[in-house]
Amino acid sequence: MRLDGHDPAAIESAAERLAAGELVAFATETVYGLGARADDDAAVDKIFAAKGRPRAHPLIVHVVDRAAAVPFAARIPPVAARLMDEFWPGPLTVIVPRASGMAGAAAGGHATLALRAPAHPVAHALLVAAQRHGVAGIAAPSANRFGRVSPTLAQHVVDEFGDYLPVLDGGACRIGIESSIVDCSGPRPMLLRPGVLTPARIEAAAGEPLALADDSAPQAPGTLAAHYAPRAKVRLMATSMLHTALQMLGGQPMRLAVYSRTVPSGMAPGLRQRRMPARPEQAAHELFSVLRELDDEGVQLIWVEEPPPGPDWDGVRDRLTRAAAT
Ligand code: TXA
Ligand code: MG
Repeated sequence: MRLDGHDPAAIESAAERLAAGELVAFATETVYGLGARADDDAAVDKIFAAKGRPRAHPLIVHVVDRAAAVPFAARIPPVAARLMDEFWPGPLTVIVPRASGMAGAAAGGHATLALRAPAHPVAHALLVAAQRHGVAGIAAPSANRFGRVSPTLAQHVVDEFGDYLPVLDGGACRIGIESSIVDCSGPRPMLLRPGVLTPARIEAAAGEPLALADDSAPQAPGTLAAHYAPRAKVRLMATSMLHTALQMLGGQPMRLAVYSRTVPSGMAPGLRQRRMPARPEQAAHELFSVLRELDDEGVQLIWVEEPPPGPDWDGVRDRLTRAAAT
């Protein structure tokens, strides 16, 4: 059930639900989250059950600010502190050593914990109200079933979980893809998941170069090659290949959609086409909504033009590559 996230009464009742160990979904500036109080393993377990997510896949604990993060961490490494200072509240998650006995279920039993202070006024108001009810942090993954596209509208969350779940509606998520994740628990900070913050900005704030996660690095638990997938099959294609394939199409391919920045001449009439924005922030903002809309229209195959090269597109490219990997 959708609740107005800007209504203080709705925030208060959501905070009470959290305090009582129930689930609440809420808007953040990245994507909608499915939250439970982080200090209650039984409450957190409801998240894994609702999502169908393996319990070893750790969740992000959301906090109101750096002071609220401190009790969850065994220590705050200096690089994590610098990143928090620069990007919190905002679309950055840091991984730090976990304080023993804190948020064990949320951490999937791992010795580290992911922490983020979201900037969205609805998420912020919920965290403040929850704190008054004795809830220090809210464990929240994206509010979608495991492996599916993250929700960027309150209605998406209702579509995923039905009407029983309260959803604090904060409108369309401004950023539209999940936070950047930087592991600060090792000797060098490592980017585990690209988001809208470029590596250059993160490195400038960190004061040291990022170790880029590659195949030789330890895998982040819960990082799967295939993820963020709509029901339709996604095929990521280089511009020239996409144009050639489109020119070879005959008839009216009703179940095919094309999501591309460029449009070749002479496309089959009736082809479903969505234009990918030329700017990466705009493309990120609408990406998951477009994939859901195409699903709703009954599209079975989506041909997506590869984003341009360069770090500004890393977040969008990462999500599209995973969507195409199923
Ligand atoms: O923008 C976001 O980050 C959204 C909003 C709701 O804040 N949340 C989100 O959560 O995307 P989720 O659960 O869908 O993705 C969190 C990812 C996990 O898939 C996992 O890879 C990583 O965070 N993660 C969490 N704890 C970790 C840990 N201790 N070590 C390494 N990776 C971790
Ligand atoms: Mg997710």
